[in-house]
Amino acid sequence: MTAHLKKAELHCHIEGAAPPALALVQARKYNVDVSGIIEDGAYVWADFSHFLKCYDAVAELFRSEEDYALLAEAYLTELALAGTVYSEIIVSPDHGNTIGIGSDAYLRGLSAGIEAAKAKTGIEGRMIITLIRHMGPEAAERTALYAAKRQHGLVTGLNLAGEERMHNVADFARAFDIARDAGLGLTIHAGEMAGAFSVRDALDHVRPSRISHGVRAIEDADLVKRIADEGVVLETCPGSNVSLQVFPDFASHPLRALHQAGCRVTLNSDDPPFFHTSLQQEYEIASQVMGFSDDEINGMTRTAIEAAFVDEATRRRLL
Ligand code: ADE
Ligand code: ZN
Repeated sequence: MTAHLKKAELHCHIEGAAPPALALVQARKYNVDVSGIIEDGAYVWADFSHFLKCYDAVAELFRSEEDYALLAEAYLTELALAGTVYSEIIVSPDHGNTIGIGSDAYLRGLSAGIEAAKAKTGIEGRMIITLIRHMGPEAAERTALYAAKRQHGLVTGLNLAGEERMHNVADFARAFDIARDAGLGLTIHAGEMAGAFSVRDALDHVRPSRISHGVRAIEDADLVKRIADEGVVLETCPGSNVSLQVFPDFASHPLRALHQAGCRVTLNSDDPPFFHTSLQQEYEIASQVMGFSDDEINGMTRTAIEAAFVDEATRRRLL
């Protein structure tokens, strides 16, 4: 059992954390038909591309600053109840533009939710702005320039999510340079829907301190050694990977092998209700299904806090 263990998370997409019950409330509020994406109280999607569409449809049910404040507060409060002291939520100001409230209102709402959860429970939250790969490099650079203004104090990093099989990582190098120059932490989705080459490209062109997923590095032993030697932190999300059929089951998931090879790994939920998981459940899977000891799991939590995009005073307090 892992209920008693301290937890920390580096990787959860905030719109992907909306439970179907909340999405239904939002759908009623805005009079939207969600019968195509929610059935019997669960999200329905068939494959990764379909999942991304379902994700966007859920994101469009949150349409105001207040909606986003409540979403962040609810998610972080639930995490805190499960023993979580720190969470980085992946946010997409582009969604703010899609729903018409704009990036600033979107981030103000999320910031208010993070502060409210902290006031209630003590949990620390930060935001990682994500570029959306299938929107292309030009849109990515615009978003990176926006992130680099650093107008919202809880934004501390930049990520790249979306369809990994589109574009080359090199196409996004300038966007990441902009963020690096602004002092933001860098992480990038790689080695999830594409193979080891994608992780290698991410390391070569972006030089991030963390990789979102990165698990398909296991296809290349030299790359695994490089990740271990360079101390790059992997934000692994086993429940997501099995749900999206990146690996057929937990027995064939490479978390144990990566850990054994000396890679710095962490546990994360990605888009929890879409993948029928939660951060607590990821800790349970690591313990009960993959056989990690409490000491090993505490090591992963420590790694997450060490790799967090957070100021040093907060990091010391969390450790
Ligand atoms: N956006 C939301 N969830 C994602 C995932 N697992 N991979 C890439 N982009 C995403
Ligand atoms: Zn993700």
